[in-house]
Amino acid sequence: ARIVVLVSGSGSNLQALLDAAADPAYGARVVAVGADRDGIAGLDRARAAGVPTFVDRVSDYPTRDDWDAALTAHVAEHEPDLVVSAGFLKLVGAHFLAAFGDRYINTHNALLPAFPGIHGPRDALAYGVKLAGATLFFVDAGVDTGPIVAQVAVPVLTDDTEETLTERIKEAERAQLVEYVGRLVREGWTITGRKVSIP
Ligand code: GRF
Repeated sequence: ARIVVLVSGSGSNLQALLDAAADPAYGARVVAVGADRDGIAGLDRARAAGVPTFVDRVSDYPTRDDWDAALTAHVAEHEPDLVVSAGFLKLVGAHFLAAFGDRYINTHNALLPAFPGIHGPRDALAYGVKLAGATLFFVDAGVDTGPIVAQVAVPVLTDDTEETLTERIKEAERAQLVEYVGRLVREGWTITGRKVSIP
């Protein structure tokens, strides 16, 4: 199967997928990595693995809708079976969802529906929850609202800082992403309303 990964930052989730995909038995290949900005480690990781990259900056297009159309076209060129948002910090629009809405997944560093948005671990810590974690879900038009594929929980420890909790979540998050991307591409999936089934 062909996977396109979208990144905006360090790309540790991307790296986990690249490492897993090095084994042909994994069943998926990262065929391209796209970003919304230059100069990020995620793009370096792709290049180091010999994977083609592309960058679409919102500021390079007259409107957000034009950016969304361009991003959609660039992803489509690589004919992905699955598109993975791994720390991609942009909400895609109607073009993208029309093309990839049933095969675009995102990993979020909180146990949704709690703590959506860009500060999941910080918000969880501030709330005082005792379990935090990560959620893998199919992206819809909302912010972190789509049908859930899988969740993994980690404990919040009494002396946690935002940094230590974030790291604990990210370790579990990477393992979950690798496991479920592999299962999705090898076994397929159906989405019925909010219910995701992997046969
Ligand atoms: C992940 O924890 C993701 O949930 C959050 O940003 C992080 C991306 O990390 N939105 P990386 O770029 O894969 O290292």
